[in-house]
Amino acid sequence: MALLCRVAAASLRVSRSRPLVAAAVRASSAGAQYQHILVEKKGERGNVGFIQLNRKKALNALCDELMREVGLALDEFENDPEIGAIVLTGSEKAFAAGADIKEMVDKTFQECYAGNFLTHWNHVTTGKKPVIAAVNGYALGGGCELAMMCDIIYAGDKAQFGQPEILLGTIPGAGGTQRLTKAVGKSLAMEMVLTGDRISAQEAKASGLVSKVFPASDVVDEAIKCGEKIASNSKLIVAMAKEAVNGAFELTLAEGNRLEKRLFHSTFSTNDRKEGMNAFVEKRKANFTDQ
Ligand code: HXC
Repeated sequence: MALLCRVAAASLRVSRSRPLVAAAVRASSAGAQYQHILVEKKGERGNVGFIQLNRKKALNALCDELMREVGLALDEFENDPEIGAIVLTGSEKAFAAGADIKEMVDKTFQECYAGNFLTHWNHVTTGKKPVIAAVNGYALGGGCELAMMCDIIYAGDKAQFGQPEILLGTIPGAGGTQRLTKAVGKSLAMEMVLTGDRISAQEAKASGLVSKVFPASDVVDEAIKCGEKIASNSKLIVAMAKEAVNGAFELTLAEGNRLEKRLFHSTFSTNDRKEGMNAFVEKRKANFTDQ
């Protein structure tokens, strides 16, 4: 049976180097219990939320319950004032091999349409805190789409990305045709979506789908380090920066620049903007309070 796991207590300090299961903490003020994911706090200051997909035998196929749990864990971290960034990962063999085909096989159009099938996955994109995907192995179909819902993707050198839905007689349904096209451009996105061919981590890096590639054994630690760097900044200002960058995906250039300007001006109403600039002038490290 899958391991039951709970979110770490607020006072937890977990070192990056400790094995995941040993470091998992079973006491949580929020009290959530998870069957398909492992959840804990990572980083020297325990300020990086860590979610590991844990359906290894099914290559982390994204069944409905697993995605519901991911949503709950994201909510817990979103509401935890200590957490400044979140890392989402899978196993060495698979980040996730897609939506659960065995769960989908008998579904009808009526069920999908009336029940808004898989619409709740969007929840991954709605948080204010940055989410970093650390991808090893297969990121296929919904797995690739889940990675692309995150804000940053780091890949292990053996990772493979693909949208093989066409081989199942369907098409990507969680943003694959949209986010992949924006990330890698029309020709490569069309090729991947129409043939089901996968691309390697190196091709994903060259095409802009991922920002960095590391040896497979390092990618999670590197993602946590990135999370720690982000978490050391003002959470308030980080959220504004994330909102501004995301504006580039939904708005015209003029609208996006207007949003950016409004948010930039808004930073001048915060203590952290004052603190950041004063610290620079006084040649000291800024002490942000998220205010
Ligand atoms: C359910 C899956 C699964 C999936 C793998 N498994 N992928 N179960 N849904 N997406 C299960 C297999 O059935 C098998 O279970 C076990 O995981 C191991 O898989 P194998 O195929 O035996 O492993 P391997 O030979 O190493 O091949 C790995 C693989 C292959 C290349 C990744 O599993 C594969 O092609 N998987 C499907 C990939 C895919 O088409 N993804 C898109 C799904 S559709 P048993 O019980 O037999 O051991 C999708 C739509 C998204 O994502 C739409 C919106 C969200």
